[in-house]
Amino acid sequence: MKIIENIKELVTAIKRWQSNRKTIGFVPTMGALHEGHLSLIKAARKECERVVVSIFVNPMQFGPEEDFSQYPRDLKKDKRLLKLEKTNLLFIPKTEEIYPEDFNTKVIVDEKLTNTLCGINRPEHFAGVSTMVTKLLILVRPQVVYFGQKDYQQVLVIRRIIKDLNLGCKLEMLPTSRETDGLAKSSRNTYLSSEERQAAANIYKALKLAESMLQVGERNPKEVIEAVRKTLRVESSIEIEYIATKNAETLEDLNVLAGKVLVALAVKLGKARLIDNIIVEVPSGSV
Ligand code: PAJ
Repeated sequence: MKIIENIKELVTAIKRWQSNRKTIGFVPTMGALHEGHLSLIKAARKECERVVVSIFVNPMQFGPEEDFSQYPRDLKKDKRLLKLEKTNLLFIPKTEEIYPEDFNTKVIVDEKLTNTLCGINRPEHFAGVSTMVTKLLILVRPQVVYFGQKDYQQVLVIRRIIKDLNLGCKLEMLPTSRETDGLAKSSRNTYLSSEERQAAANIYKALKLAESMLQVGERNPKEVIEAVRKTLRVESSIEIEYIATKNAETLEDLNVLAGKVLVALAVKLGKARLIDNIIVEVPSGSV
């Protein structure tokens, strides 16, 4: 596995692969890798001739009160895992390399996608993600870039950028990888105490309840949201940031739950802010 820290060397390595017509699969990450990340890397390994992974805890996507400085970092372990997955190139840039002192650009995606769900309490977050990922896609020029459904709003935002800016790569979304009790794997799960970790199982339980309500014919968003809220409230340590049902393509609100429905939530649990979602195909006709 080639480990590269600067942009010049990265561009040289990519150019060499391009001139040899190698297909490149790319997985951008912030490190502290877990099975969720590895599922993306495995898909890239299967589908592409060269696999590039980046690890960069991107300061631009963290708010001033957020966990940038505490965000888990374990480069030694990450490198070991990436070698096992036969990653060809690991890009681990320094902050100055990505954001030189005179850096002065922001990639902003339409507010219909970014001023809702996580964007409400994290107003700068998606501009930070968008700017960083655009920069990486321009440098790596992959045929396929891999993202997880766990950060579904992020997927829609990046998909929009790829289309609008003609970045010419395919975005592949992979399912959320979960613990046995359903909790979505996340680098931030390490913040949870053992009691909080137990309480966190209610997050997926609540989403599964929403799914079964939709499956048996519930079409009223208020009813579904209230049932999710009640399930989460069983655990007093869970503080709800939002619970929402949306059109999964546009993130618009729905008066009647039909079509491709996103049920998404964000909660605070101790020091961790956790997000999760499910997408349910709801037939438009009556049940
Ligand atoms: P990070 O949180 O490290 O996630 C990197 C990728 O792994 C994202 O596509 C995310 O959706 C995916 N992922 C995380 N947990 C997952 C799980 N349980 N199952 C499946 N996939 C999962 O997302 C970011 O980093 C950053 O915003 C980034 C895109 C790197 C830009 O800085």
